[in-house]
Amino acid sequence: MPAPLDRLIACLANTGMTRFFRRLFDDYPDLLMKDQTVEEIGPNRRIKLRGRWVTNFGSDSFLGLDQDARVKAAIERGVRTWGTHNGSSRAFSSVAPNVRAEQKIAEWLGTEAALIYPSVTLANTGALPGLVTRHDVLVADQFAHNSIDDGLKLAKARGTRTAKFSHNDPSALEDALKSLKPYRHAVVAIDGVYSMSGQLPPLAEFRRVAAANDACLYVDDAHATGVLGTCGRGTVRDALGDYDNVLTVGSLSKGFSCLGGFVAGPQTAVDVLKLRSNPLIFGGPVPPPYLEAICTVLDVLNSDEYPALRARLDANVRRLTDGAKKLGLVVLGGLVPIVSVLTGAEEATLKAGKFLFERGFYVQSVVFPAVPHGAGVLRMQVNANHSAEQIDDLLAALEALAHSTALPSKIPAALVAA
Ligand SMILES: Cc1ncc(COP(=O)(O)O)c(C=O)c1O
Repeated sequence: MPAPLDRLIACLANTGMTRFFRRLFDDYPDLLMKDQTVEEIGPNRRIKLRGRWVTNFGSDSFLGLDQDARVKAAIERGVRTWGTHNGSSRAFSSVAPNVRAEQKIAEWLGTEAALIYPSVTLANTGALPGLVTRHDVLVADQFAHNSIDDGLKLAKARGTRTAKFSHNDPSALEDALKSLKPYRHAVVAIDGVYSMSGQLPPLAEFRRVAAANDACLYVDDAHATGVLGTCGRGTVRDALGDYDNVLTVGSLSKGFSCLGGFVAGPQTAVDVLKLRSNPLIFGGPVPPPYLEAICTVLDVLNSDEYPALRARLDANVRRLTDGAKKLGLVVLGGLVPIVSVLTGAEEATLKAGKFLFERGFYVQSVVFPAVPHGAGVLRMQVNANHSAEQIDDLLAALEALAHSTALPSKIPAALVAA
């Protein structure tokens, strides 16, 4: 008789999503480009995968700061000054660069305070349950990020009532809040930008509905951090003019090319979250070298150099988006530097990714469950340090793809609306 652990694992391997993925691996051993190993990184966004050098259009390092000499030097300085890790939960102590990075984030955004978590996932699964009690309610947009959903589940397990409302629909939010009354307090969680569809939420309208129903807003702006808004500070301040009644979440990994996430807002809220976010109390912090690097990235975002960096990125995004549209492809997104081309069925999507790989480009083939069944896309992440020529070459490969296979001509409703 196999050991209980072996039986457990064998059972899980044949259950739900694991079975689905194993089937994909079995059915398309050659096509499925998941779980890849990057063997080397070269200059000009080149990477080596499966022994082949290709141009990487799969990096969230939108501003190209992962290769910036100043950011690399900050990491080295951090290691020399502080070592690799400070080995303590922040409940006990924080290194000075942690406090400095939080002050700098708050100054950059224009909030009173900010709190750094080791990732946005840990921010959402720490702050959201931390913000509510069993007397309160937590509601989220149906398309909000998976980690917001996990935050709701944790809160629910502790007795908070939770609900979802139709995507980007303020009247659906109002109905959801009304149906949950009476409650003591309410938190409304949404994304600041939906990377797949490129849609922005109607923030002002959501804030009005929230305030009218005794609720506050919690905006996960991870995809916008560093790449939208004045000095890259995201969508919230530019859309609302201030942060009244709003907590803003940002990423320190994507546009920042460092590590972590943050929640920013009033000092009193940050003080309470520090005491009520389990991942911060029972888990470790962002290591000091990355905190030094975060401070350096903030200097770049606040400098005269930023507009030129952003202009390069925006021009690259436009070049790819406009070029793909001219080819007659169905293009989603393009507001943040994530440009998706609809490819449809799972197999067609995997084949399309392989087709581009063989022509020298790594892009991500995204299939169910990340998108609805039959609504697969090629997701291309544009970086400021891609050259115009690399983008034109990718467009030529997309054109060849469109000639070799029939691609869908309409956006499936399930991708953009309830
Ligand atoms: C809106 C949003 N929230 C959270 C995350 C997760 O961020 P992290 O990798 O820092 O956990 C992502 C990552 O794609 C995201 O897009």
